[in-house]
Amino acid sequence: MERVRGVLKAHLERAYAPYSGFPVVALVEAEGESFLGVNVENASFPLSQCAERNAVAAMVLSGKRRIDRVHIYSPKGPIPPCGGCRQVLLEFGSPETEVVLHGPEGYVVKTLGELLPWGFRL
Ligand code: THU
Repeated sequence: MERVRGVLKAHLERAYAPYSGFPVVALVEAEGESFLGVNVENASFPLSQCAERNAVAAMVLSGKRRIDRVHIYSPKGPIPPCGGCRQVLLEFGSPETEVVLHGPEGYVVKTLGELLPWGFRL
């Protein structure tokens, strides 16, 4: 866990969050590989993209589609993912998928099922 925490913290400065001042880094573990994402904001605020969804996009581009575990780091954390990201994570994970919420002082582990009970799936 300490190695992952180091990777998350090392990428914090890559987040582009000039409007909210709220940088977030996400790391998705999928099929033996790791994929990073940071939040990327926009002057047209609704176009901003969350860190989790950018990590999922990197995973899909690489050809992986099964999320085994997710890590989310914020200097204000542990913070939970937004509702939309919970749904996106469920698309490639399961209710049992671990979501590790990190902050500077430590982390808490939840499951996707706890964060998104009765989640919609086709
Ligand atoms: N944000 C994320 O990247 N992930 C989350 O789970 C919560 C929120 C971003 C979106 C926006 O750039 C900033 O944090 C403040 O909402």
